[in-house]
Amino acid sequence: MPHFAAEVSGIDLSSDRTPDATIAALRGTIDAFAVVVLRDQPLDDEAQIRFSERLGPLETIYRLKLETAAMDRHVNVLSNVDPETGRIYEPSDPRLRYWDGNELWHSDSSFKPVPAKYSILSARVVPAEGGETLYADMRLVWDELPDEHKAALRDLVAEHSLVYSRGISNPDRAFFSEEEKETLKPVRHALVREHPVTRRLAVYAGSHASHIEGLALDEGRAIIRALLERATVPERVYRHRWRANDVVIWDNRSVVHRATKFDAARHPRVMHRTTVAGDGPTV
Ligand code: OGA
Ligand code: MN
Repeated sequence: MPHFAAEVSGIDLSSDRTPDATIAALRGTIDAFAVVVLRDQPLDDEAQIRFSERLGPLETIYRLKLETAAMDRHVNVLSNVDPETGRIYEPSDPRLRYWDGNELWHSDSSFKPVPAKYSILSARVVPAEGGETLYADMRLVWDELPDEHKAALRDLVAEHSLVYSRGISNPDRAFFSEEEKETLKPVRHALVREHPVTRRLAVYAGSHASHIEGLALDEGRAIIRALLERATVPERVYRHRWRANDVVIWDNRSVVHRATKFDAARHPRVMHRTTVAGDGPTV
């Protein structure tokens, strides 16, 4: 495991009796490392929500019209299985294709005015092969920048948009109605964020970041791309190979992540995510 991922054992996430001090220590570990892996943590949604709420107030998820209304408003279901029929989606099903966007490096909910703090991803069903999740440390990229680049980037603001990023991952699809586009207007975020607990700085950009304010579109995009490329060179990436009942928690202020392919036409993969809301706007 690279320096920013830690495996934690000795906690039962499904137990309400875990002392506050243990939860506080876990939170401290997430803040310091950025990715925390816990094995053998069978959770249902109720238990996942109860545990997640101990880390902070949850985000209400952004639910597309194309998704099932019956889903819990605090649980993001990343799945290739139709919850109503139990069958694997047809390859062209928009509910499957929508998740193509997860294969781009991103920070969760960076398209929201108050973006996500922690994501808690619970592996319910995993394929035997593929479908790993990759993580990269955005603090390290910042640390290694020459001082003159740091000075030039420190106060910049990027615009983030889900409509933009889904246009990149699925240029031939229209996932969003006009009404949804209206509620998904681009938002502004600091390109460099200071972690409120560790005080470390990190570059804050991923697939939703479309450009940088005050710079030409191409120039801003080239900067974002270069920073991401540096952060995500293979030898720096943590590749999580899922086992069923793994829980991985990450700090979206410090890392970007992405999904990888698997044989989605054949093998079920069901992941449930809860998301702890951020503290406020970043600019
Ligand atoms: C997420 C995510 C990637 C994956 O849950 O936010 O991007 O591999 N998941 O499922
Ligand atoms: Mn994600």
